[in-house]
Amino acid sequence: MADDVIIALDFPAREETLAFLDRFPAGEKPFVKIGMELYYAEGPAIIREMKARGHKIFLDLKLHDIPNTVKRAMAVLSRLDVDMVNLHAAGASEMMKAALEGLTRPDGTRPLLIAVTQLTSTGAAALKDELLIDTPMAETVLSYAQNAARCGLDGVVCSPLEAALVKERCGENFLTVTPGIRFAGGDVGDQKRIMTPEKAGRSGCDYIVVGRPVTQAPDPVEAYRRAVREFLG
Ligand code: C5P
Repeated sequence: MADDVIIALDFPAREETLAFLDRFPAGEKPFVKIGMELYYAEGPAIIREMKARGHKIFLDLKLHDIPNTVKRAMAVLSRLDVDMVNLHAAGASEMMKAALEGLTRPDGTRPLLIAVTQLTSTGAAALKDELLIDTPMAETVLSYAQNAARCGLDGVVCSPLEAALVKERCGENFLTVTPGIRFAGGDVGDQKRIMTPEKAGRSGCDYIVVGRPVTQAPDPVEAYRRAVREFLG
């Protein structure tokens, strides 16, 4: 069920990020996504600063390593008090379960843990010829999602076009976090499989991740509010 709009803070550094967020009125604190570029540039300090400002944070670092390393790294991220983190389902069950253990705080709470199935940049040819996976892409994605659900993860990152199928396979409560969102009549950019916030809201997406349609808009605050309005209906 449509829950929230997450703004992808795809900025190179702190200065640009704060300049963007400072456009919002003091009481309005969007859920934000911080990815590798900003995190590697600024480190954990940027997370602490965003939390202190009152934002919920999806830390998009897509962990993928041996189970023990991922468990220990997740424990560090959990202590940063982020709200959502992710990993590659390709790390398999043992790694996903270790990640959950690492994330769980002494009081039993933890950030939401979301799996990346197959990157949308991986085409059918790379899947078959380089990753040596003969199963068709759609089935691979759904099977990875089911595996993540069986391990106790909270959901997957997927295209809004796949959200309903993921729910069908993994259950209504399994979360779908969906990039590839564009306003009707807006600039598509490099995204290929897109959906409007309104349609995403009716298609089984729990969270939509919106980057450039908000960050590059002439009036980002109004664009964000429009996304929220259309998505939550
Ligand atoms: O600017 P735009 O709305 O396309 O940004 C979408 C965000 O979601 C970016 O941060 C991008 O890296 C991320 N993303 C994506 N497609 C995926 C996974 C993540 O667009 N499959």
